[in-house]
Amino acid sequence: MARIGLLTGGGDCPGLNPVIRGIVRKGLDTYGHELYGFRRGWKGVLDNDAFELTRENTSGILHRGGTILGTSRTNVYKTENGEERVLASLREREIDVLIPIGGDDTLGVASKLNEAGFPTVGVPKTIDNDLNATDFTFGFQTAVQIATEAIDRLHSTAESHDRVIVCEVMGRDAGWIACYSGLAGGADVILVPERPFDVEEVCEHLRHRHSTTGKNFSIVVVAEGATRSDGGDAATAADSVDSFGHVRLGGIAFELEKEIEERTSFECRATVLGHIQRGGAPVAFDRVLGSRFGVAAIDAASNGEFGMMTALKGTSIEMVPLQDALAEPKLLDPELFATAQVFFG
Ligand code: F6P
Repeated sequence: MARIGLLTGGGDCPGLNPVIRGIVRKGLDTYGHELYGFRRGWKGVLDNDAFELTRENTSGILHRGGTILGTSRTNVYKTENGEERVLASLREREIDVLIPIGGDDTLGVASKLNEAGFPTVGVPKTIDNDLNATDFTFGFQTAVQIATEAIDRLHSTAESHDRVIVCEVMGRDAGWIACYSGLAGGADVILVPERPFDVEEVCEHLRHRHSTTGKNFSIVVVAEGATRSDGGDAATAADSVDSFGHVRLGGIAFELEKEIEERTSFECRATVLGHIQRGGAPVAFDRVLGSRFGVAAIDAASNGEFGMMTALKGTSIEMVPLQDALAEPKLLDPELFATAQVFFG
């Protein structure tokens, strides 16, 4: 029996609650652990704000979006005496192992704490699917499903009005959501951070489609982090940066709306899906992956596999070093993008 702490950090993601439920269920029933959930990510550990997780308060959460623990983008290592405060809270609560569930920022802190001597086991999370060392992260399939449904809906209004609709989806460093939802939704052009774009080339695809198919409408899917081939940064929605140094992205669809309309004379509209992609119930795949990650994480925490994180490799769950996920983002598979390109224009 041990005392295990949990936290969810960074942007929320459908599938977090299944992870929490999996950890608690196996932690209680198989290992007889005591489990504590820190509120709002690392902020809760800094402030020693936690509550005991029980069968009762983690029941009925499998299908719920968001996280019952709350989350934040608090950076322990940008907080005065951050590491000391975290270690003091964990000592005070007599926590033996901490399981941080989060993206590269959250797992980066987990890795540093582990190096500092406090045992951690990570669970990777990001709807962007851009974490290395795991084939998929939970939440991604839900985001793709939501974006695909949105693209389907945009098709009928684009067709009725003879318009080009530019749909902006999430994806800071990698275009996984754009590529999957664009391919599934039949986008006529997909723009991703990995392939800086030329607006004239985009317009050429649209002109070609309109002139060869007799169709007077098109859908362009663009990832928020997409940039231009002639240089410049991704479009931003605000000047401020968060405590991990990330600027708030957003707005490339509005730039494209204007430029495509000017160059082609096709009437154009922009739609930004934003946080709708992160909200609501996880799809079945993400519930299953979250549950599997939760169960694997509590097994690892109980067996002393510290400094490791859960990962999906093919169809199996494995434990891999936390460091493997952190070096650089997992970029879009070029073969997948090449398949999507077949349907451009
Ligand atoms: O990191 C996941 C992500 O959803 C990115 O795609 C997006 O840029 C960012 O989070 C948005 O963050 P926030 O919820 O803080 O606006």
